[in-house]
Amino acid sequence: MTPSNPAQPLTGQNALVTGANSGIGEGIARELAAQGANVVVNYVVQPETAQKICAEINAAGRGRAIAIKADVSQEAEVQAMFADAIKQFGTLDIVCSNAGIQRDSDLAHMTLQQWNQVIGVNLTGAFLCAREAAREFTRRGMRDVSCALGKIIFTSSVHQKIPWAGHCNYATTKGGIMMLMQSVAQEFAPKKVRANSICPGAIATAINRKAWDTPQAAAALETLIPYDRIGAPADIGKVAAWLASDASDYITGASIFVDGGMTLFPGFATGG
Ligand code: BGC
Repeated sequence: MTPSNPAQPLTGQNALVTGANSGIGEGIARELAAQGANVVVNYVVQPETAQKICAEINAAGRGRAIAIKADVSQEAEVQAMFADAIKQFGTLDIVCSNAGIQRDSDLAHMTLQQWNQVIGVNLTGAFLCAREAAREFTRRGMRDVSCALGKIIFTSSVHQKIPWAGHCNYATTKGGIMMLMQSVAQEFAPKKVRANSICPGAIATAINRKAWDTPQAAAALETLIPYDRIGAPADIGKVAAWLASDASDYITGASIFVDGGMTLFPGFATGG
């Protein structure tokens, strides 16, 4: 069970990361591969960026990477992606349900389409990927690469805890992911499947570009972050790799906030 190369503790394991051609998903895929895992880089648009990330991972000579297209909100596409991944890698040991979108609006102007799109990708997508992961882990049985039968890692958000005016669709999905994750963790712990969530704070990616891409915006954002820096995708990737490894074998059902203290009610440092 102990990997022969401690610098690459995920050697011999196969991972699938949804929404892996940009942002946090890209950071997770790169780190899992750097630590030895073979990775599926899932994407739905911009195949060229997925191919570029795979080429760079493959050139680094650690884990191997392949790109697979699927819209995670679509059941048939998720099932086809898992079938393809299992055909190419043999099986999966780590599934990172990461794909997420924002379609922001105040409540009065939010359209049903904005609501449904965000629920579809962020929450239904998480359910579909978790279900296929559980099916594959139980079908295949224990392997000699990990103490666990399999690991499911959800990308949630600080907004599973912090309400977010103007983003009620998004915050609702993150609250939903918390209960999905905990229910899956409770159901599958006896089968040795671990399920956990990472709750990122403000990580500089395309999804929140407006919040950090001018000095004024970045300064305003930093007032919400006690640790005083905006996060990077690698901050999340490293935690995902640790949650996927046997170093975290006794952790299941946990929400790990990776947020520079954003959930510490920073306004109360000087007020209250
Ligand atoms: C959102 C970002 C936001 C961050 C902190 C994330 O879940 O996707 O847009 O900057 O939370 O508020």
